[in-house]
Amino acid sequence: MNIVVTGGAGFIGSNFVYYELAHHPEDKIICYDALTYAGNLETLDEAMKNDNFVFIKGDITNRDEVEKLFVEQKPDIVVNFAAESHVDRSIENPDIFLRTNILGTGVLMDACRKHGIKRYHQVSTDEVYGDLPLDRPDLFFTETTNLHTSSPYSASKASADLLVMAYHRTYGLPTSISRCSNNYGPYHFPEKLIPLMIINALHDKKLPVYGTGENVRDWLYVEDHCSAIDLIIRKGKAGDLFNIGGHNEKRNIDVVKIILKALGKPESLIEHVTDRKGHDRRYAIDPTKIREALGWQPATKFEDGIKKTIDWYLTHRSWWEHVISGDYQAYYQKMYGSRETIE
Ligand code: NAD
Ligand code: DAU
Repeated sequence: MNIVVTGGAGFIGSNFVYYELAHHPEDKIICYDALTYAGNLETLDEAMKNDNFVFIKGDITNRDEVEKLFVEQKPDIVVNFAAESHVDRSIENPDIFLRTNILGTGVLMDACRKHGIKRYHQVSTDEVYGDLPLDRPDLFFTETTNLHTSSPYSASKASADLLVMAYHRTYGLPTSISRCSNNYGPYHFPEKLIPLMIINALHDKKLPVYGTGENVRDWLYVEDHCSAIDLIIRKGKAGDLFNIGGHNEKRNIDVVKIILKALGKPESLIEHVTDRKGHDRRYAIDPTKIREALGWQPATKFEDGIKKTIDWYLTHRSWWEHVISGDYQAYYQKMYGSRETIE
């Protein structure tokens, strides 16, 4: 099969490329990526050595480029990871989020309709459900939880999900959607909590925790997300919608302390700073449906995954040193330079 992976030069997409090449050597993997600030060709160095892998630079919002992709590569399956993915950036500049995350999804699905496809898979997020209260640990997001978004990012992802469902119902496009909780692991861009804290700690730089740090995220090792998507595109049915998560809730402040401890750095590096606007309190996925329907289970416990992740950042310094040189410094100054310290 020919599988197009859009956004395959980013964090989860690249991990999925490696997962597919390792587990399905019979398939051809075509990575289609615009190489925005979040896309990095160095991440795909090893994949480039594989004859079953092709990289094509292109934008999912560009109809001509997408048409060329479909004519030349004749995909059987499209897995759409391409997106603007950072909540803080969406608060600063929503426009590109609407364009890439909503319009781009529509452009890809139009090409799927025109050329025919076995499956279009939309990689969505648990953020479409909004947040849960901190004092109700009995509540979880299920596939029937109402959409209730907080940020321009999550609103754009929810809009894309609605468009995917509409294309399935109206045109019969064979779609599927997965909504995963927070991922962590190799190739995670250092604007996100876990890699940012690892890298700042390694530089003995302050660790900027938003607000009290009591917000809860439900962490999943990235390879487990990849194995779930792999099952959905191969064993799931058209029209399916699955939540993905491993019941791994942690408060941000505790995650940061775990990282400091693993690196032998003092907790005095923690600095509580101005909170994120509209900051979601708690995410927590109920993964019962995918477990019962497809037999999916996460393989990596947080204790092991965080250790593997920290080791990866320690042994791949050149990867993240390249990433944080240049534009990243200006981004960091803009986002954190004016945040006030709170006691
Ligand atoms: P990322 O920001 O690391 O990577 C996004 C990739 O998309 C980059 O390679 C970028 O170059 C590419 N891209 C952006 N705009 C594009 C365009 N117009 N055309 C083609 N390529 C474009 O993101 P990520 O964290 O790997 O997330 C991937 C997907 O998974 C996103 O759809 C995100 O919403 C979803 N998701 C992420 C998480 C998480 O914890 N990171 C959890 C659940 C779902
Ligand atoms: O839940 C899935 C989502 O997880 C994905 O859809 C998003 O693409 C992905 O970016 C992620 O969103 P979050 O906003 O949860 O991730 P982020 O790493 O930005 O922040 C995690 C938590 O840490 C959040 O509560 C905000 C907090 N935080 C983050 C940063 C960058 C801090 O306290 N300090 C920071 O500097």
